[in-house]
Amino acid sequence: MLGLNEPDAVFRCELHTRRSGLHRTMGALIICEDVWKVYRLGDVEVQALRGVSLQIERGEFVAVMGSSGSGKSTLMNLLGCLDRPTKGTYWLDGRDVGRASQDELAELRSREIGFVFQNFNLVPRTSALENAQLPLCYWGLPLREQRARAAAALARVGLSGRDQHYPSQLSGGQQQRVAIARALVSSPSILLADEPTGNLDTESSREIMEVLARLNREDGLTVLVVTHEAQIATYAAREIFVKDGQIVSDRVTAAAPAGRS
Ligand SMILES: Nc1ncnc2c1ncn2[C@@H]1O[C@H](COP(=O)(O)OP(=O)(O)O)[C@@H](O)[C@H]1O
Ligand SMILES: [Mg+2]
Repeated sequence: MLGLNEPDAVFRCELHTRRSGLHRTMGALIICEDVWKVYRLGDVEVQALRGVSLQIERGEFVAVMGSSGSGKSTLMNLLGCLDRPTKGTYWLDGRDVGRASQDELAELRSREIGFVFQNFNLVPRTSALENAQLPLCYWGLPLREQRARAAAALARVGLSGRDQHYPSQLSGGQQQRVAIARALVSSPSILLADEPTGNLDTESSREIMEVLARLNREDGLTVLVVTHEAQIATYAAREIFVKDGQIVSDRVTAAAPAGRS
């Protein structure tokens, strides 16, 4: 497993734990300090993130906003351990992601993170149940348990009775709910959704946001949603604006999740 080796990091986490009154955990779920991501394409250097510092507590519901190319997806990929910072530090649940090996990153991803994408990314001609079950196939669980967990995840997103449907037999909103079930099946700490309503009509978008809000409110799931629609962002309790690779605003919204039942 990954360890927390840096005394400084331990101190910071403990300090934070004391401040926030979170006694069971090591403090904030996500701590980024001066995180940079630089892509190099031949001679061209793209500074996709330029010194992002960010702290997210367990159980928060955060909207990440910003125009196209501002660095939202890059940030999500880093937070989701798909990638590592070029510079700066990212602690996920007290673990230093920048120092993790590829195997440790994969392990962190599979245990801690659930991803939802704009295009659903479901496997075609494969049932909703099997799609939702997919992340568990590396876990060595008995098949019966895998199926039970997948069925429970589908029920959690309101898709009971659709277990045997193929993606092509489901609406866009339902397909995205299968994708959310797939993200939930491993009981992650964080759900990262990158423009989850980008391909959906208004009504389906509202349904998806209601599902995410319920998971946050009732199950305490930490949810980060990238969107460029202000209306979608109103479901979150906190809005972060990214511009040119930097956080330019970070504020609590009026819409506390509890008020949106
Ligand atoms: N794999 C990559 N290689 C090179 N440049 C990239 C890569 N991914 C993103 N970028 C660049 O980084 C910047 C931020 O991109 P991205 O994070 O996708 O923005 P957003 O999600 O806000 O639209 C853009 O200029 C984009 O072209
Ligand atoms: Mg993007």
